Amino acid sequence: MSFPSQTPIPMRRIALRGDLLDFTTAPQWGDIGSPAVRFREDHWLLIEDGRIAGAQPGDDVPDAQWTKRDHRGRLILPGFIDTHVHSPQLDVIASHGTELLDWLETYTFPAEQRYADALEAQSGAARFLDALLAHGTTSAVVFPTVHKVSADTLFAAAQERGMRLVTGKVLMDRHAPDGLRDEAPDRGASDCVDLIDRWHGKGRLSYAVTVRFAPTSSPEQLAMAGQLCTAYPGVFMQTHLAENRAEVKWVQQLFPDARSYLDVYDRAGLLNARGVFAHGIWLDDADRAVLRDAGAQIAHSPSSNLFLGSGLFDWRAAEAAGVAVSVATDVGGGTSLSMQRTLADAYKVQAMAGERLTAWKALHASTLGAAVALGLGDEIGSLSVGCVADLCVWDWAHGPVAQRRLEVARGLHEKVFAWMTLSDERNLVAAMVDGVVRYEREE
Ligand code: GUN
Ligand code: ZN
Repeated sequence: MSFPSQTPIPMRRIALRGDLLDFTTAPQWGDIGSPAVRFREDHWLLIEDGRIAGAQPGDDVPDAQWTKRDHRGRLILPGFIDTHVHSPQLDVIASHGTELLDWLETYTFPAEQRYADALEAQSGAARFLDALLAHGTTSAVVFPTVHKVSADTLFAAAQERGMRLVTGKVLMDRHAPDGLRDEAPDRGASDCVDLIDRWHGKGRLSYAVTVRFAPTSSPEQLAMAGQLCTAYPGVFMQTHLAENRAEVKWVQQLFPDARSYLDVYDRAGLLNARGVFAHGIWLDDADRAVLRDAGAQIAHSPSSNLFLGSGLFDWRAAEAAGVAVSVATDVGGGTSLSMQRTLADAYKVQAMAGERLTAWKALHASTLGAAVALGLGDEIGSLSVGCVADLCVWDWAHGPVAQRRLEVARGLHEKVFAWMTLSDERNLVAAMVDGVVRYEREE
């Protein structure tokens, strides 16, 4: 038997030089000298066909087969993973004067109504993903709106950019204005099934059954969402949980038989290892044990929690209970897409409780920790061989204040903590997704 001769496809080989920082496992709470940190100063990171192929010291220069980019003196990190963010809410970021329930009514629902329009949804999706990349976030778990087209356009825009994205149309069938409710009798089920069929598992895209929060879904819709999770075991589930005290009280009134807010979701079959629960501020130990046993994660959203006056998340209690905690901007409740700004807020929230969040714990939670909690640790969140080359190149300092602080920093943790606290999207030099540069700062 003879085969037609094939022209070999040349390997895409890229070598990036810089200070490589990532994690090999989870750091312990408070451990400044953690062995989980992998810092390789002045190294080449080798990328073949979009995957990490190795690393070698800076003076061991790769040969001519490699396209080289020299970022000596800069920091190279895995791309950030934002585990809870709302694509249509760039339009309401920094809205004044309300707590959660008023904020939804006054600002957010009206903005989301605009996404009924396909062109609005399409341009919003592109604007949102480009903004994520320009902030160093290469993967995200995203809420669009209730409109099917909002999820469709977001999936398509992520596919164009090669991004690992988890999203799904928002489910709401009550306590929401006209134009933002799934209509009976199927209450959104057929839209979800169609989106799952067309997008879930396509390239780097995954579907998430997306219950907005308990108050905006009838018990019938919650049960339907739980059935979807059972029928499609690979899909994710995302929702909001125990964010604000008035919200928690409302959930108690709406679901008097439930032991707690979390129990509403548990009874509907919405708890599993692919569950991402945003906020989780007002929980008790029993709730934390249930989350841990399910293997679900809390998407801690410190900027949003501060801005909307929601409360101070007890990260230490979640950690002690064995619940996975990732970090999220929750824009537009949060006031920035920058993960560094969000991590700086996370540090301050812990400081209010007398705790000291290390740079290691914070950066791990927004890279490898989030990836592992999503079941994607072999693909994203680190610079390990075999992972997809989703990464960012950062300036260590932007401006004279940060420059000086970095100059006098002693030791690696002090330096990285100062970077995390003082940096933002202005430090971003380039963002690479699947080995392709998708954002590059104009010099
Ligand atoms: N709870 C229900 N919907 C939302 C939302 O859009 N943002 C936040 N922060 N909390 C919510
Ligand atoms: Zn949210």
